[in-house]
Amino acid sequence: MATPDRYAVFGHPISHSLSPRIHRLFARQTGQPLAYDAQDVPADAFEAAVTSFLSDGGRGLNCTVPLKELAFRIADRLSPRARRAQAVNTLALQADGCLLGDNTDGAGLVRDLTANLGLRLSGQRLLILGAGGATRGILAPLLEHAPAAVVIANRTAARAVTLEHEFRDLGPVTGCGLETLADAAPCDLILNATAASLSGELPPLPPGILAPGGACYDLAYGQRPTPFVRWGQAHGARLSVDGIGMLVEQAAEAFALWRGIRPETGPVIAVLTADRER
Ligand code: ATR
Repeated sequence: MATPDRYAVFGHPISHSLSPRIHRLFARQTGQPLAYDAQDVPADAFEAAVTSFLSDGGRGLNCTVPLKELAFRIADRLSPRARRAQAVNTLALQADGCLLGDNTDGAGLVRDLTANLGLRLSGQRLLILGAGGATRGILAPLLEHAPAAVVIANRTAARAVTLEHEFRDLGPVTGCGLETLADAAPCDLILNATAASLSGELPPLPPGILAPGGACYDLAYGQRPTPFVRWGQAHGARLSVDGIGMLVEQAAEAFALWRGIRPETGPVIAVLTADRER
C-alpha cells in the first residue's frame, strides 16, 4: 500500500485538539490516503518544527494558538483572506515547493452560521465581542454578507477602534469598549470572539443587547456549554451555540485546499456532538 500523505496540527497546548479526529473522519469519508497528527509546538520552536515536518515529507499543516501570526510570517505566498486576517491557520505545500498560507476560520464560521444554522447575515446588526486575532480572522468574511452593522466591542476599546480603521473599507464596522454597549441598539447576532470562555469567564453584557429572536454564537467550544452560550440561553436567544460547527467547517476548507475534495461536514459534526454527549 502507498504511504499516506502526512498532515498535522501544530499548537501549544494541543493535547485536547479535535483536529486529528475531524481530519481522520474526513479521510475515511472521502477515501483519501492521509495521516494527520497533533504536535505540541511552542512559538520559539515553530520554524524548526515546520522545516523538519516538510523535510520528512509533510504536505500541509494547521496552525492554532499561539502560532497563527507566525505561520502568516513564514508563508511564501498568502491567500487574499489570510493577508486581510494577518493570520494563517492552514499551510499547504505547493507543487513548486512554495508554502501557501490560507485562513479558513472566517469562511468556516460563515458556513456554520448560514448553511448549518440557517441564520441570515444580510441586513442584520452583528455584535462581535473581542478584538484579538479571532476577530481579525472573521471580519472580512462576515462583511462580505452585507450586514446592516458590525459592532466590535472590546475590554480594551483601542484595539476595537484599530480594527474599525483597518476594515471599514469593507463595510459598516465600528469599534468601542464593552461599557459602551449599555447605550447600543439591540443586536440580531452576538458572536463571542474573546478568550474569556477559555477561563470560564463572561464579558459583561447589558441584558437588552440581544434583540428579541436574536442568536448567540461562541467561537470557543467545550465539553459543556460555555458561560456565553448559557448567557444566551438565559436571555431568550432563539439559538445559542458554541463553535464546534465552525471548527469542523474550517477543517473542511483546509482539507479541500490540500486534497481538492470537500468532505461532507454534517456527519462529522454529528459524530463530535455524540462524542460530547457521552
Ligand atoms: P485570540 O487570538 O484568541 O483572539 P488575543 O489576540 O489574545 O487572542 O485576544 C483575546 C481577546 O479576548 C481580546 O479581545 C481580549 O480583550 P483585551 O484586548 O482587552 O485583552 C479578550 N479577553 C480575554 N479575556 C477576557 C475577559 N475575561 N473578558 C473580556 N474580554 C477578554
